[in-house]
Amino acid sequence: MEDLIRQDILNIEAYKPGKPIEEVERELGLKDVVKLASNENPLGPSPAALAAIRKNLKSLNRYPEGTCFYLKKKLAAKLGVKENNLLFGNGSDELIDIILKTIKGPDAEIITSDTTFVEYKICGAINGFDVTAVPLKDFTFDLEAIRSKITKRTKAVFIANPNNPTGTFVNAKQVADFLDGMPRQVLVVFDEAYFEFVTEKDFPEMIPLIEKKNVIVLRTFSKAYGLAGLRIGYMAASEKFIGYAQRVRQPFNVNSLAQAAATAALNDKKFLKRTRECIAKEKKLLYKAFLKLGVWFKDSSANFIFVRLEKDAGKVFQLLLKKGVIIREMSQYGLTNYARITVGTRQENIKLIKGLDEVLNSK
Ligand SMILES: Cc1ncc(COP(=O)(O)O)c(C=O)c1O
Repeated sequence: MEDLIRQDILNIEAYKPGKPIEEVERELGLKDVVKLASNENPLGPSPAALAAIRKNLKSLNRYPEGTCFYLKKKLAAKLGVKENNLLFGNGSDELIDIILKTIKGPDAEIITSDTTFVEYKICGAINGFDVTAVPLKDFTFDLEAIRSKITKRTKAVFIANPNNPTGTFVNAKQVADFLDGMPRQVLVVFDEAYFEFVTEKDFPEMIPLIEKKNVIVLRTFSKAYGLAGLRIGYMAASEKFIGYAQRVRQPFNVNSLAQAAATAALNDKKFLKRTRECIAKEKKLLYKAFLKLGVWFKDSSANFIFVRLEKDAGKVFQLLLKKGVIIREMSQYGLTNYARITVGTRQENIKLIKGLDEVLNSK
């Protein structure tokens, strides 16, 4: 078989998703397993989105609206951009792939960080790019170091802002310096999957730059809007780039329930407020508990916290699993003592804290 498969695919490690909660419960004979591993919204989906889904179920015999017509209208007005500045995808994952397919040329490279969302690397490799991964500095994207690595072969830079898994962000001044004099052939992609959780005043405003610089902004309905299972995200970019990217996407890449749910969720200000308040409050509770437990953590601008455990994180992960709590350990980045923990509901966080206490303080 191997002689049939593309050489660069042979070398790619597939994305490793966590096991479904139900399977973990069945295997371990547990009930009420808590999943704090995928940065999902602990409050569930927006109720308005659920109502819209129910209403649209009877039209499932129809193909979806190919351009996300109503959603695009609504979002363009909300963001203050033209409808032609927006493109929707089957999650922002798909948009990463569409961007890379749109810009691929021979002997091309993309740059990102060595400890960030792995899809840039996987998708870059699948699409035939060399991927340069620049180390973080103080757990934050090192824009100066990335800038120094840009060559004529560089087609795009992917920056998760805030960064997954560390929860840090690059600020407005750092981004302005980075973009100043950036060669025109380099697309700079700001992946703002956790944008809605950010409260810091010096977080950069990227949307106003999409026509002025070679900047693309990615956002998603998977996190703050609670729609991860439906798969819908969007990119904001120049009309020109969107025009080309449109040619690359599949004709019906966003399903009709996702479109209806996302349109309703945009209106559900109450749910978004409740989500933001919950994450802010629960993050404080977790910080306090981590301090008490002697667990180092990085202040996070997102809905997860990057922590260092004084034991092998893989072992801590296994022990916590037996207690019905799933976290994400970071050995895939070569960080054996680190983990990423999604902020849950009060009840979930208390279960985590109790479990961590038992695991870390056992001999
Ligand atoms: C930084 C970042 N970008 C993109 C995604 C994927 O989002 P989506 O569910 O929209 O594909 C994630 C999901 O964890 C993420 O952390």
